[in-house]
Amino acid sequence: MNNYPDITKSSETKNKLSIFCEDIFCGLTATAKYLDSKYFYDVAGDKLFQQIMHSPEYYPTNCELEILSQQTDQIVAEIQGHFNSFDLIELGAGDALKSSHLLHNLLQKNNPFTYFPIDISKNVITTLSNQLPDRLPGLNIQGLNGEYFEMLTRANSISNKNKVVLFLGSNIGNMFPADAERFCLKLKEHLLPGDLLFIGFDLKKNPKVILDAYNDKQGFTRDFNLNLLNRINTELDADFNLANFQHYPTYDPQTGACKSYLVSTEDQQVYIAQADKYINFAENECIYMEISQKYTLQQTLELAQKIGFTPITHFFDSKKWFVDSIWKC
Ligand code: AVI
Repeated sequence: MNNYPDITKSSETKNKLSIFCEDIFCGLTATAKYLDSKYFYDVAGDKLFQQIMHSPEYYPTNCELEILSQQTDQIVAEIQGHFNSFDLIELGAGDALKSSHLLHNLLQKNNPFTYFPIDISKNVITTLSNQLPDRLPGLNIQGLNGEYFEMLTRANSISNKNKVVLFLGSNIGNMFPADAERFCLKLKEHLLPGDLLFIGFDLKKNPKVILDAYNDKQGFTRDFNLNLLNRINTELDADFNLANFQHYPTYDPQTGACKSYLVSTEDQQVYIAQADKYINFAENECIYMEISQKYTLQQTLELAQKIGFTPITHFFDSKKWFVDSIWKC
């Protein structure tokens, strides 16, 4: 999941670079400083995220992998109960590790479907399009590189079949609840009555388990956050001293908001050459970096109902730490 390509001289890249610069500058000059976590995913960020997913503390990936690898027959039966021919769209497909269990099972059962992985990273789409058909013979794949909603519109213009949309990995958690609601509403506008959404939520659980997942002992999550400062240094010619910022993860068990911050350890000034601006940081001033919202099952049901989706069924891992739900449009 790489949001922006390396710097080249193309005008498209220059445009993206100036949007990046503007977003960073806006965030760092706000009264409560913030950075957008969508910018975590450059090449180094992608690698760090892989390391987070393999760390012993970060449970969501294993929980969802357990669901998709061990309850595949039930998931496929549920889909088959609705359509025999459909488009399977995955938002933010990444390496498709989890979804390939589903793809394999659907192929074994001779379900006519086309897989439309959507990802902002061109590299992800090229790799999936080249490699998945070898791993999964007979797979009909049409990769779409771009923003979710633009690519959903493209998928709708290519095919008018019913859609099953996968939104895995608790990516919905990286939105504030009000944004998650707006996102789901917009998603619904791109679907037709009867279409299905297969959506993953990380559930509330012992607060220490959650906090540890965002504070792994090997420091991958710390480095993942700090890497964005590094990215700003490289791409916007800034002079952040990473040693002057501390990773500070928090979890509020009542609201379910797991947030991470970077704390400035001293009064300091950072220069962003691309914007030709100085940013001042006071000692102990924080930059808000990311939310990973945790839900109760009841809250997911309320979200579905509020938007007008009908929850059909839920698949839990054995610890009941994560849920993949099927919502009908
Ligand atoms: C991608 N997303 C669902 C991850 C999460 O759990 O919120 C990103 C992440 N940030 C720190 N660790 C993992």
